[in-house]
Amino acid sequence: MSKNTHLQKIENFLEIEENIEINSKHFEKIMFIYQVAIKEIENKLEILKEESKLFYDYDLIDHINTRIKTPESITKKMNEKNLKYTYKEMIKNINDIAGLRIICPLKKNVFSVRNLIVNLPGIKILKEKDYINNPKKSGYSSYHMIINVPVALAQSLIYVKVEVQIRTLAMDFWASIEHRMKYKPEKEISKANSKYLIQCAKIVEKLDNKMMLLNS
Ligand code: GTP
Ligand code: MG
Repeated sequence: MSKNTHLQKIENFLEIEENIEINSKHFEKIMFIYQVAIKEIENKLEILKEESKLFYDYDLIDHINTRIKTPESITKKMNEKNLKYTYKEMIKNINDIAGLRIICPLKKNVFSVRNLIVNLPGIKILKEKDYINNPKKSGYSSYHMIINVPVALAQSLIYVKVEVQIRTLAMDFWASIEHRMKYKPEKEISKANSKYLIQCAKIVEKLDNKMMLLNS
């Protein structure tokens, strides 16, 4: 079989119209491809992190976290978005099946890392959201990207969507605590607490700006 035939085949495979079955081979194969995409981009970023340290004696990235969305969480999101429960709809509409979070020491590092990602060979940028210059109403601050990562399998090359979140240690501190309060108990956050969190987010922003001055 020619390489082209296979290329075609894998694209069809990722567009399967049938209903999702979490314990099926199809589901396992799709999740494997997302896992590989995460590995690819994580590896590239780990190299940039180490390069920065070794060549420039500079900590550009503090650490990187990755995760694959659980089947339960995928199902929940598809229900919320009123999507047809097919593989095709899942791949098309759920952008954060593969997720990578890059935690930087300083705010300026976030934008340097963003630029490095934009310039990575083979990576395509699909969407960007700057919640640092435009924080969310909740106070949430972070730089978000949806990127396409090429995955080379034995007979085919496919692009896979990965959600990238880049933020500072201080932003991550805020987001972790806010997330625990907001999502885990599955209950509404009180008005007073949400106001308090917005105040804390403003302090985080001030802190990030001050820490940047300290370093320069
Ligand atoms: P969804 O993933 O459907 O929400 O898509 P979206 O386009 O609304 O995504 P957005 O870029 O706003 O946020 C995606 C992710 O960012 C979420 O899954 C969270 O991980 C994170 N996030 C967004 N808003 C908040 C927030 O207010 N607090 C915290 N802790 N995290 C947030
Ligand atoms: Mg998400």
